[in-house]
Amino acid sequence: MSVLSAPTTPASAASTAPVDLGPASALSCRECGQRYPLGPIFACAECFGPLEIAYDLPTGDPEGLRSRIEAGPASIWRYAELLPVPADVATKPNLNPGWTPLVRADRLAAELGVTGGLWVKDDSGNPTHSFKDRVVANALEAARAFGFTTLSCSSTGNLAGAVGAAAARAGLRSCVFIPHDLEQGKVVMAAVYGGDLVGIEGSYDDVNRFCSELIGDPAGEGWGFVNVNLRPYYAEGSKTLAFEICEQLGWRIPDQLVIPIASGSQLTKIDKGLRELISLGLVEDRPYRIFGAQAEGCSPVSRAFKDGHEVIRPVKPDTIAKSLAIGNPADGPYVLDIARRTGGAVEDVTDGQVVDAIKLLARTEGIFAETAGGVTVGVTRKLIESGVLDPTLSTVVLNTGDGLKTLDAVAPTTGPTAVIRPDLDAFREAGLA
Ligand SMILES: Cc1ncc(COP(=O)(O)O)c(C=O)c1O
Ligand SMILES: [Zn+2]
Repeated sequence: MSVLSAPTTPASAASTAPVDLGPASALSCRECGQRYPLGPIFACAECFGPLEIAYDLPTGDPEGLRSRIEAGPASIWRYAELLPVPADVATKPNLNPGWTPLVRADRLAAELGVTGGLWVKDDSGNPTHSFKDRVVANALEAARAFGFTTLSCSSTGNLAGAVGAAAARAGLRSCVFIPHDLEQGKVVMAAVYGGDLVGIEGSYDDVNRFCSELIGDPAGEGWGFVNVNLRPYYAEGSKTLAFEICEQLGWRIPDQLVIPIASGSQLTKIDKGLRELISLGLVEDRPYRIFGAQAEGCSPVSRAFKDGHEVIRPVKPDTIAKSLAIGNPADGPYVLDIARRTGGAVEDVTDGQVVDAIKLLARTEGIFAETAGGVTVGVTRKLIESGVLDPTLSTVVLNTGDGLKTLDAVAPTTGPTAVIRPDLDAFREAGLA
């Protein structure tokens, strides 16, 4: 396969010198395999397919690699040899996300009737309280390598906060774009780090379209949009969820994983991460099933899965799960492929079921999830009830964000059990003794 010169956009003019991004050797088109030098580009000039990172991975000595990983830092950088980052990444100013708990969820399992072992990968404890710190940390290294001075993104909320914080830590400017009507927790988190925050009057899909225009305009020159022109690097960060889950299970792939879908990038890269672990000999090659989770009010991938379609029909989102509210998901077709290839499924739940699931997870495991976590737990319950997810198999459910950012979802139905005078008679009258 020939290596074409990278197609340039105004924003890609930041640097064309060779870069050190560790084992990343080139960009490769997911559709036609055409290769390009590493650069701030994301679409194939031949067929417009998405570009992915091609690697020179450390093959041949899985035991040595495993030992180096296990001796590494308690962050995603323990996997630096498998990511598009320089070897000394952990010494650079960044938020050091990852290595979050894999919680054995026996009480939730009992409620759901799971007997094969149930775990929650709880990513709410990342530095800005969502899994987005993983992807942004990878994009930040690409931004540094290409000489960008402004970090940007189109966001459903969590990404904006993660970009603002990462830029602050790295000493870069940030300017992030969100739909104007997000939850207060997301807006405040996105603004507090001191960068520019722009609310767009429209949906996420409008925000994303606007950012694509900005990249092609001189106004966006020198800007690294983590999920647009840096998307190939950004997306690789989600592989670390697969790596951590397997390592935390004793270097074993679980039988079933339940993953939320917005653009579908995270789900697609978790599958890529699992396949890399197999090909490197770090885990046994055994079958696994991937399940995608959406909210009914924004379920274009679930709809296509159920209808047996290969294309996604875009929708106008209307759900409390705003972090997952992408009506035209870029990686939707790949999610369909993965769910079908692995014998999984894509399912959706109503907003009411999302709220019930948030409370169920909180009550049984002491984990307060944001609405995206309510979506995965709710979908897990629904798939068990419909006999699609096998309760006798080991299952990992992702919680990708913190409930404190989406208080509005549960506040109307959650509050004090009683409000009483400060005396014992009042307490007894309340029936709580
Ligand atoms: C909390 C949370 N979980 C999951 C996702 C899904 O991400 P993706 O776009 O990779 O599907 C998002 C996206 O914004 C999110 O904020
Ligand atoms: Zn191509």
